[in-house]
Amino acid sequence: MLDLSTSAKNMRSSEIRELMKLAADPSIISFAGGMPGSDLLPTDIVDGLYASLSTQEKQVALQYGPTSGYPPLLESMASYLSSKGIDMTDQSLLVTSGGQQAINLITRILIDPGDRVITEDPCFIGALAAFLSYQAHLAGVPMDEEGMMAGPLRETIEKRYDSIKMVYLNPSFQNPSGIMYSQKRKKEILGILKKSRFCLVEDDPYCELYFDETDPPDTTPFKALAEHALPVCYIGSFAKIFGPGLRLGWLCGPSELIEKCELAKQSMDACSSSFSQVIAHKFLSQGSMPGFLKTVRARYAKRARIMLETLEVTMPEGISWTHPRGGFYVWVTLPESVNAADLFKAAIKQGAAFVTGNAFDPEGIKNNCLRLAFSHTPEDTIAQGIKIIASSLRSLL
Ligand SMILES: Cc1ncc(COP(=O)(O)O)c(C=O)c1O
Repeated sequence: MLDLSTSAKNMRSSEIRELMKLAADPSIISFAGGMPGSDLLPTDIVDGLYASLSTQEKQVALQYGPTSGYPPLLESMASYLSSKGIDMTDQSLLVTSGGQQAINLITRILIDPGDRVITEDPCFIGALAAFLSYQAHLAGVPMDEEGMMAGPLRETIEKRYDSIKMVYLNPSFQNPSGIMYSQKRKKEILGILKKSRFCLVEDDPYCELYFDETDPPDTTPFKALAEHALPVCYIGSFAKIFGPGLRLGWLCGPSELIEKCELAKQSMDACSSSFSQVIAHKFLSQGSMPGFLKTVRARYAKRARIMLETLEVTMPEGISWTHPRGGFYVWVTLPESVNAADLFKAAIKQGAAFVTGNAFDPEGIKNNCLRLAFSHTPEDTIAQGIKIIASSLRSLL
């Protein structure tokens, strides 16, 4: 066996990945994948956008492009970010190959082995994997219904101040919990971070996916609320608001950090897909996004409602779950004595799947929770899938 790098040895072998192979069976009702419904992807819109391209735009689409991104797309994204209240003075923008690459780049330029990253507990699995691949140490801070808890954050910082480099969080309809940060909590966290030298990495791919068009929750980002002295890197993605197959995201932050990220990106993939960028630019500039989002918000809201109503009538006593106002996820907490891996094995035999909670635990241990994604499951099968999970749970209790 070759002697692998420490970074490769640090990559977690994944029981979850093995379990997920079972969920790929088309006869399984799966709440596992954190992805848009395939039936909701904007295939017709893409046909129209492609048909509207000039020959010159098609040539650009099939050519290499600048590492920082396709200039017209950078422009339309900068105006989108300004509309969210982000002040672009001294800030730069980098197009990335998905939000995942943005997380990877910022980690690569900030983290030396042994440096600490504060994360939410539970935390997005892809971010945990990126941090661990650079040999970061993790410190998970618990969440309540308003976001990362301020008291435990303060205590973690007091205990570990010297080794902390970065705080990572996911403010709108968090993956995996579905929790939406309150504006009050955002301000509290910013107050705590004000004097620190840490970088706040705000990963916000779900902010446009609120359910109630008449009452959108306040998704003003940390980046728009923070004082300029605190470095905030704001990450977004086209994955959940257009299609993950584009592999397109963005990173917006202090120019000196973004310049380094651009250098790091050059050696990774030279540039993100020009083809995707040309299409994404048309999507924004031709004004297709608002109408499309209106349609999918209603569909995700309906899927969430069916899931929540079925949980209400089928789940045994002593089980709790979150009530998301947007996004893709419901987070279920079981009694401590129940292992979600046992529930998974029982449920998959009956035909339903989800992701077990330890995947999202910064320590990789706690396993009495599970993530249910309602986004990818057709409305007519959600109730049946939840009934299977509930009856499998009853058999374990
Ligand atoms: C919180 C969060 N960040 C980033 C990503 C990665 O997005 P992308 O597909 O753009 O790489 C995801 C995808 O699930 C996510 O949930």
